Amino acid sequence: MEAANVHVHGAHDAAHGHGHHPTGLMRWVTTTNHKDIGTMYLWFSFAMFMVGGAMALIIRAELFQPGLQYVSPEFFNQMITLHGLIMVFGAIMPAFVGFANWMIPMMIGAPDMAFARMNNWSFWLLPPAGILLTASMFVTGGAAGTGWTLYPPLSVQMGMGMDMAIFAVHILGMSSIMGSINIITTILNMRAPGMTLMRLPMFCWTWLVTAYLLIAVMPVLAGAVTMILTDRHFGTSFFNAAGGGDPVMFQHIFWFFGHPEVYIIALPAFGVISHVIPAFARKPIFGYTSMVYAIASIALISFIVWAHHMYVVGMPVAGQLYFMYATMLIAVPTGVKVFNWVATMWRGSMTFETPMLFAIGFLFLFTIGGFTGLVLSMTSVDVQLQDTYYVVAHFHYVMVAGALYSAFAGVYYWLPKWTGHMYDETLGKWHFWLSFISFNAAFFPQHFLGLAGMPRRIPDYALQFTDFNQVSTYGAFVFGLSQLLFLYVVLKTIRGGEKAADKPWEGATGLEWTLPSPPPHHSFEEPPILK
Ligand code: CU
Repeated sequence: MEAANVHVHGAHDAAHGHGHHPTGLMRWVTTTNHKDIGTMYLWFSFAMFMVGGAMALIIRAELFQPGLQYVSPEFFNQMITLHGLIMVFGAIMPAFVGFANWMIPMMIGAPDMAFARMNNWSFWLLPPAGILLTASMFVTGGAAGTGWTLYPPLSVQMGMGMDMAIFAVHILGMSSIMGSINIITTILNMRAPGMTLMRLPMFCWTWLVTAYLLIAVMPVLAGAVTMILTDRHFGTSFFNAAGGGDPVMFQHIFWFFGHPEVYIIALPAFGVISHVIPAFARKPIFGYTSMVYAIASIALISFIVWAHHMYVVGMPVAGQLYFMYATMLIAVPTGVKVFNWVATMWRGSMTFETPMLFAIGFLFLFTIGGFTGLVLSMTSVDVQLQDTYYVVAHFHYVMVAGALYSAFAGVYYWLPKWTGHMYDETLGKWHFWLSFISFNAAFFPQHFLGLAGMPRRIPDYALQFTDFNQVSTYGAFVFGLSQLLFLYVVLKTIRGGEKAADKPWEGATGLEWTLPSPPPHHSFEEPPILK
């Protein structure tokens, strides 16, 4: 079958200069191959990571000293908004969809994703959305300066940049929903014989649940921004108190999307970690079944905790108590997962190559982010810390040391499989240690700043906050520059290097170790149908 295609391709090429399989740029535009699409997702994600990272460095440069140095307060607010939107929707989410495209079909023994053409469209919706978001800086009035949460009334009053952000959110939502339909259909219908649901590799489980979360909450976000749009242009008053509406309603709708969104990002990250740790501990994952139930519980509870983002809007004490206890409940399944990862490492034959370093860095720092989340879940504490740098420190431990470290672990772990080459282990370790130290330098002091009362999203600050801000800015710049090293390592691996062994991590592919019982005859990593 494959050989026949290649023959037709070759003959056609010779005659007309093009064939059924386009080459060059058109290959990437028209591809329906899950690996090509996975690769494009990952590169798009990295490009957006660079753009969003540059914005973060503008923010940190301005905060190096009190007073206004480099940018206007308006531009500072725009950087805050775009950094958040671009990192969440442009960098982290597409990175894990890239992993899903690459790995899920191979892990379950399917020849490709269920809807290969829709998969192409899911990806190609992203670049226009990324361009819309980034370009909104350059229109009259600039980008939305509301923060990524787009709260009214400010978001109703902003200039055209806000319309561009709304349109971008709609496009990104369509892409996510189509991607989710594809993932659910692929996992539920295209597993190789013998691959029952309770044998599903953990990464597939996390994505299956994440895909349901996405389908549930992306339309909610779309509804919220559409109401903003009609309030802006079509005379409605959904969020305008003078017209009978309620601005607080937006916060409820936004966070009904926004809290599950945290787990849309975190669950696939958990999935990657659940492959890396068993492979480098050379033990099957501890507590497979409890892992599956923990993933499902986290997803379900994530729908009923949203107002912990809104303790100060003036809700009744009963409401505050409910959301506090419900939020604390999430620590239980999350604790199960952390316990299982540690138990997997317990008495394993551990080695510490770069993927494992990032996985352990994830475990350590994500847990700190989880604990500060527990601190913030307490209403009485949150009232003090709301809108301070403590919150910024908290969610960067979750998003950067959690999701991003997991993505790095996944890239280093699967790079030999993707490229056929081993990456440079020495440089990988440099990338890890530089990232680990500079990340903590950038974000740990922000806990102290928040506890001391420094508000977030403000370009200026009182003199006593200077020292910690300077440490934070140094850390941020080193962290940003370290990622150029990552880019270099990846490019070097793609271009050549030591040939990767079939099973590069000393016999363990990672896949069989995620199953609760001995693996079936073939490991599902190489679908028999393509051999
Ligand atoms: Cu939340």
